[in-house]
Amino acid sequence: MIRIDIDICKRCGRCARVCPSAVYTQEKGEVPVVRKAKNCIQCGHCVDVCEAFAIQHSDFPAENIHRVQKENIPSASSLMELMKSRRSNRTITPAPIPSEALSDIIEAAYVAPTAENSRKVKVTLLQGEDIQAVEDATMKFFLRLANILMSPMVRPLTKLFLRDLYNEAAELYRFERKWREGKRPCTCNGTALLAFSTPKGYDFGWQDCNLAYQNASLMAEAHGISQIYMGLVQTALKFIGRKKTERLLHLPKNHKLYALMALGMPAFYYPNYSDKPKK
Ligand SMILES: Cc1cc2nc3c(=O)[nH]c(=O)nc-3n(C[C@H](O)[C@H](O)[C@H](O)COP(=O)(O)O)c2cc1C
Repeated sequence: MIRIDIDICKRCGRCARVCPSAVYTQEKGEVPVVRKAKNCIQCGHCVDVCEAFAIQHSDFPAENIHRVQKENIPSASSLMELMKSRRSNRTITPAPIPSEALSDIIEAAYVAPTAENSRKVKVTLLQGEDIQAVEDATMKFFLRLANILMSPMVRPLTKLFLRDLYNEAAELYRFERKWREGKRPCTCNGTALLAFSTPKGYDFGWQDCNLAYQNASLMAEAHGISQIYMGLVQTALKFIGRKKTERLLHLPKNHKLYALMALGMPAFYYPNYSDKPKK
């Protein structure tokens, strides 16, 4: 249900101007008219642009509409400082992440923009044994691969044709030693993992999930919590397969993983940030 309270509407017509789905029409100087409520994509632009709170929208009850507190919005320079000082801090300790911070990080993910406001992204939180299972699956996948590529028969070919993989083998065996000591090198010892997924077949999964990821990442940084993109794990999961990934990460049924974040409390913070070298 969408209604306009004609007693308080200022007839500015901004709701009609900002609506991306042409729900409203307006004759100059008149109260806008709700023409195609069924077109509404629940983006909330109309209720948020209305100075007078004149729009009654069943998806946006009055208590869910907030006046923007301009003084709470970070300045461009503080936002830039946050983005420049954000690091993938891998010194994660076993200390628990405060639950309010974790809630903020997940909420930040869900407020990111999505294609056509479809909001299909699901953020799944993994902790404890579930992270160990992801670590073990990743490590075992790469060890199997390395054992093939570095076997005496194949090794010369690997050296010749897969130089990068050949060079990375030493790093992998270093990871293996750590893993056998009970550490979790692939998941950077994260105490929480956030899996970003959308239904299989949805066209904007990559985009929506990674926008959600970046929101969550900056919120984590603002809370002083380490966050690291789990590219290595995602590479392994791609080979392990979608169904198994779905089970391992407890994704909703028929969801596809597009981004994975490790989180945890760092041992220390970086006192500096440096300008990125030119590429
Ligand atoms: C797509 C992607 C995948 C990544 N995968 C990993 C990973 O598997 N393990 C890891 O420790 N860091 C990973 N990183 C973190 C990068 O190494 C890191 O962002 C980069 O070195 C820059 O450092 P900074 O994030 O501290 O600025 C990944 C980053 C991105 C964007």
